[in-house]
Amino acid sequence: MKRIVVGISGASGMIYAVRLLRAIPGDYQVHLVISPVAAKIMKAETGWDSAKQSFGEFLKKAQSEPFGQSEIITHSAENHFAPVASGSFLVQGMAIIPCSAKTLSGIANGYASNLIERAADVNLKERRPVVLVLRETPYNLIHIENMKKATLAGATVLPASPAFYHKPQTIEQLADFVVARVLDHLSVPHNLVTRWGEN
Ligand SMILES: Cc1cc2nc3c(=O)[nH]c(=O)nc-3n(C[C@H](O)[C@H](O)[C@H](O)COP(=O)(O)O)c2cc1C
Repeated sequence: MKRIVVGISGASGMIYAVRLLRAIPGDYQVHLVISPVAAKIMKAETGWDSAKQSFGEFLKKAQSEPFGQSEIITHSAENHFAPVASGSFLVQGMAIIPCSAKTLSGIANGYASNLIERAADVNLKERRPVVLVLRETPYNLIHIENMKKATLAGATVLPASPAFYHKPQTIEQLADFVVARVLDHLSVPHNLVTRWGEN
């Protein structure tokens, strides 16, 4: 079973999380952790109400295009007994998308206060890919120092900085550029964007 851990933390840019989850192929199992603040921002930015439906149900209804149909298993951010809290649970890698400056700090400083930060911590110790889609601007020196620490510990800091050379016509195409880079770093196959030099 191919498994990916996805953490959604409390930063703006929930479209990146939705597009990523949509794109992961059906032969993957996704272990999803949404922080409490992220759930509120998700409601504000996408309309998903955690009290009314599961995130999996929302995803199926929210996406007009067919999506990868990966199996999504959601864990509470407070559940330190979840399988992804242990490095012995084999996964291909982890993305935190979007990643808040607070969650970056927790990871960079080994302060695993919730399941997102703990799962990142164990994947770094197991030397597996951990991709942090940081969403903050501008950066202060603390953010920059934490990006350096996380990078030295093995994470890939992949800020939500879409390019424009593929001439995106929609917000979804803009977001998919970033999502494609995340999937590349996790070695998850996709056809989200035409690669430079291949058109
Ligand atoms: C509407 C809203 C948008 C936010 N956007 C960001 C953001 O883009 N980047 C960021 O670092 N923090 C952002 N924050 C602040 C974080 O949510 C806050 O620091 C929180 O403690 C993060 O916790 P978490 O990373 O555990 O989810 C935002 C907060 C709110 C309410």
